[in-house]
Amino acid sequence: MTDYENIPVEKLLEAYRTFKSPVYVYEEAKILRQCDRVLSSLKDLPVKWLYAIKANDNPFIIEAINKKGIGFDTVSLEEVILCQAFTDNPADIFYTENSMTDEEMERAVEAGVVLNIGALSRLEQYLKHPKTKECCIRINPAIGDGHHAKVNTGDPESKFGIRIGLLKDAVDLAAKYNKKITGIHAHIGSGIKEPENQIAAMKVMLELSEEFPDLRYINFGGGMPTPYRKADREFNIERFAELARQLLTEDLKKRPNGFEYFFEPGRWFVAEAGYLVTSVTTVKDQVETVYLGTDTGMHHLVRPPLYEAWHGVVNLNKMEAPHDQLYTVAGNICESGDILAFDRLLPETEIGDVLAICDAGAYGMTMASQYNRRSLPAEVMITENGELKCIRPRLTADETVERFLKDCGYGG
Ligand SMILES: Cc1ncc(COP(=O)(O)O)c(C=O)c1O
Repeated sequence: MTDYENIPVEKLLEAYRTFKSPVYVYEEAKILRQCDRVLSSLKDLPVKWLYAIKANDNPFIIEAINKKGIGFDTVSLEEVILCQAFTDNPADIFYTENSMTDEEMERAVEAGVVLNIGALSRLEQYLKHPKTKECCIRINPAIGDGHHAKVNTGDPESKFGIRIGLLKDAVDLAAKYNKKITGIHAHIGSGIKEPENQIAAMKVMLELSEEFPDLRYINFGGGMPTPYRKADREFNIERFAELARQLLTEDLKKRPNGFEYFFEPGRWFVAEAGYLVTSVTTVKDQVETVYLGTDTGMHHLVRPPLYEAWHGVVNLNKMEAPHDQLYTVAGNICESGDILAFDRLLPETEIGDVLAICDAGAYGMTMASQYNRRSLPAEVMITENGELKCIRPRLTADETVERFLKDCGYGG
């Protein structure tokens, strides 16, 4: 029997039958529950929550989270433009730049969104701009964390943020142009292991904040993890809130003119709500390894090859059968690295069985590509009242290629 509980097996199979395979399926109720958990955690303090839409930018998901009163955290001009479809208030959109171009800066200034700048060279360009008055800077707090080295963004040598040794220069630059740094930000990594690590970075930020005379807010970033392996401990949001409350309550005493604190998780809201449903197309015994070949792969869920990420896999047709066969679940991309799960104990599996790759709601579809010119999967929401709603239809193989040729301007 599978260890996986609370999987909506019948709904996933219904989604498979209705929308075909592969298909991403999301549980709306779980997304909304995650929103409620953070919203209630620090509600007595001037804390605002933003959703890092890079985790999953399906418009129906952005809308559901935003309706809960959660703002938008973006990392590209394209994400900013996408969020403008949901709000007329540019102050709701926080834009953390990363190697931004002049044109992107111009658009951000025009749009009036909150721009968060992570390099002195870009800060100077911004401060020089005749239409700017104030900004936020991204600090590298020299405390990094995350589920993998590739998502550790607070390491002192990472490409992100202005390092602590240059903060005085940032303050001087703002003074030179007679402008104000009103916000500071740090995001130390994705999948922070323990609440205490996030708290340590918050302490550094609160200390550094004393160097900024015009400060009105601090954004402490995102990074709340997901327990992908069932043995992983869940991030203790209550413990985190208790520790954060002590820090922020103390800090507020120094801020008589009002202040705001932001957090911007992405994965937290959506990871556990999502499943990538796929069917088994091949069973192949290579002596040491028995592969289950599927109709999806790294082009739809790149986390396993990119970060050696672990996702639970279940056979939806045989949830109660003994899990006594060792399989490696492979994708259909022409790359040896296209493996979604190594060495899993599953029930005896046959061609046509339907698998669900669990906890795939974050950094799944947003990182998907059409490598090998493959079509993208459909996306389906199990709504709060249990209906299946298609939130992005799939294109057929013919339509995918037709659109590609058209996008390239090739042919008639
Ligand atoms: C600047 C920034 N903020 C927030 C996030 C969201 O991180 P997570 O999904 O781990 O909460 C990311 C993701 O890496 C990020 O780069």
